[in-house]
Amino acid sequence: MIEIEKRMDVFPTEEQIPANMVLAAPLEQKEYLINGELKMWTGTVQEVFSPVRIKGTNGYSKMRLGSFPIVGEKESFEALEAAQKAYDLGRGIWPTMPVKKRIEHMLRFTKMMKEQRSEVVKLLMLEIGKSYKDSEKEFDRTVEYIIDTIDALKNLDRDSSRIQMKSDIYAQIRRGPLGITVCMGPYNYPLNETFALLIPALIMGNVVIFKPAKHGVLLIHPLLNAFKECFPKGVINIIYGHGKDTIAKLMESGKIDVFSFIGSSKIANILKKSHPRPNRLRSVMGLEAKNPAIVLPDADLDLAVNECILGSLSFNGQRCTALKIIFVHEQIADEFNKRYVKKLESLKMGMPWEDGVMITPLPELDKPQYMKELIEDATKKGASVINKNGGAINESFVYPAVLYPVNTEMRIYHEEQFGPVVPICSFKSIAEPIQYMVDSNFGQQVSIFGTDSAQLAGLIDPLVNQVCRVNINCQCQRGPDMFPFNGRKDSAEGTLSVTDALRVFSIRTMVAGKDMDLNKKILTEIIEGRRSNFLSTDYIL
Ligand code: G3H
Repeated sequence: MIEIEKRMDVFPTEEQIPANMVLAAPLEQKEYLINGELKMWTGTVQEVFSPVRIKGTNGYSKMRLGSFPIVGEKESFEALEAAQKAYDLGRGIWPTMPVKKRIEHMLRFTKMMKEQRSEVVKLLMLEIGKSYKDSEKEFDRTVEYIIDTIDALKNLDRDSSRIQMKSDIYAQIRRGPLGITVCMGPYNYPLNETFALLIPALIMGNVVIFKPAKHGVLLIHPLLNAFKECFPKGVINIIYGHGKDTIAKLMESGKIDVFSFIGSSKIANILKKSHPRPNRLRSVMGLEAKNPAIVLPDADLDLAVNECILGSLSFNGQRCTALKIIFVHEQIADEFNKRYVKKLESLKMGMPWEDGVMITPLPELDKPQYMKELIEDATKKGASVINKNGGAINESFVYPAVLYPVNTEMRIYHEEQFGPVVPICSFKSIAEPIQYMVDSNFGQQVSIFGTDSAQLAGLIDPLVNQVCRVNINCQCQRGPDMFPFNGRKDSAEGTLSVTDALRVFSIRTMVAGKDMDLNKKILTEIIEGRRSNFLSTDYIL
């Protein structure tokens, strides 16, 4: 009992918090960015609290981090107007700028962004409870993503920097922007996933209205000035507030050309449906998933357990790619469970700044209650929590719960928990997990653990057509970012990767002319006189 209480006693007293891991003062953000101007907000604000609680003599108190503006319809339409002016129906400075020049703007932004690393990392850690190490990783991975995107765009531009001839037609084919783009990212990767939309959208010549996620908002503040300084006015506009008063209104106006969104399909569908001319709207979405792990009887059990622990519990299971249900063959289920629970017991639980910490408090206020409901539902229907202390709640901290045996009747079998509850099912026949995948509304990835190549081969062929990535003997994940990240069914729309994103946020457009003396003269004069940014054979070195 003492041991259990000790493990749940994760929150520090004021004195125990390292001074370099807190904010010098709460960040009372007033600024929002419209038309290249940091406007000062005087209206309603949203207060921000960390998932970290502070232990006092009379219980726990919340750690207040600051506040940010809740702008409304008026400011959202000001952002739209600024974006429209900057795009100017495709004639603006930014959409017509040579790629080389747009890259220069992006490089300047990257330089200024890197100067804000420590501030952004600290806010990321405090706002969503991601470990300091993983917050650093998220920042560095995002910078790397920008650099890789620039390289990929250079290659794309180099491939387009020539005139082709086919059937007596000269043509130059490039990729052009689509227009006014909304970007909204998720709270679990508020920097990386948002920038994985924002950066390719911008660099392809689109203009952007960006609204940060529900948590992980203040961390954008240190970057506002870089956005303001590095892009022409109106090219990037950043607003804060409730989706229904901001982005929903913009979608209803029909003036949005690209809707890029990572989050829940419920919100995505409401926003997408509110656009009056859906054929004019390009949607790019990363939505829910419930990736299964399938552990075959001949699997290397230690490897499977280690990967399943990482897959199901990294950042408390709050990853879209997390393993959210584990199918283990009945012959090895007891042994798998024993080793899984043992490994779980060894995980460090605590505050995000602690070295080696894996399980941290959750940012969503209602998440502990939701975890509790899923556990109660499953235990009522025949599952047990097989680890000591599983599901115990202390404020925003939930001790991971391992549920076994889980069956189709339980909510946890179907719902995306996005938190530290791990459902394990045992199976007799491989047809059972395959049927789960066929019936599921989601289709992102699967992990299969086994050693028999013939059996694995027999699974790969049907499974690649159920999901978009079959992971062999490893957890599911998005990276490396050069690989395609997408999903079937309700899990995604469009494909993201460094190179795919450049395509998703652009359209092929071309200049063509019949092979005749007049056209030869015109093309030569334009190209040699460098009169067009599009019709050009300049090669980026
Ligand atoms: O939340 C979904 C993220 O894209 C997952 O990325 O697999 O690299 O953690 P990750």
